[in-house]
Amino acid sequence: MTRKEFLKMGVVAAGAGLAPLLMTRCSSSTTPPPSDAQRAFTSTSVNAHTHTVTLDKVDVQTPPGAGVSGNTSSSSGHVHTFAVTQGQLTTVMGGGSVTITTGSSATGGAHTHDVTLTKWF
Ligand SMILES: [Fe+2]
Repeated sequence: MTRKEFLKMGVVAAGAGLAPLLMTRCSSSTTPPPSDAQRAFTSTSVNAHTHTVTLDKVDVQTPPGAGVSGNTSSSSGHVHTFAVTQGQLTTVMGGGSVTITTGSSATGGAHTHDVTLTKWF
């Protein structure tokens, strides 16, 4: 084996040694976004069940003019509507706590839930 061949083998071996590291780095780019990208807040318990309201971090950092609205998680066979205003999101961003009341559901007797929202990041 010449010196040149020997060195070439060394380079190939080093490359092979790096491959798993590079592959690990690549695969990490396909992992889900950081866990603080969203937060699910649990409501008060009414009629022996709770729901969650999920906020996106981006909506707290830059509150949309129309606020955020949608449905709570499903529990006991129903969901509730909820709405958070831009002002309330701004309060949360500033470190304050905001309690909203969900829309009413007639399932299991007309009821609403309260959900307290706070900054988590
Ligand atoms: Fe409910």
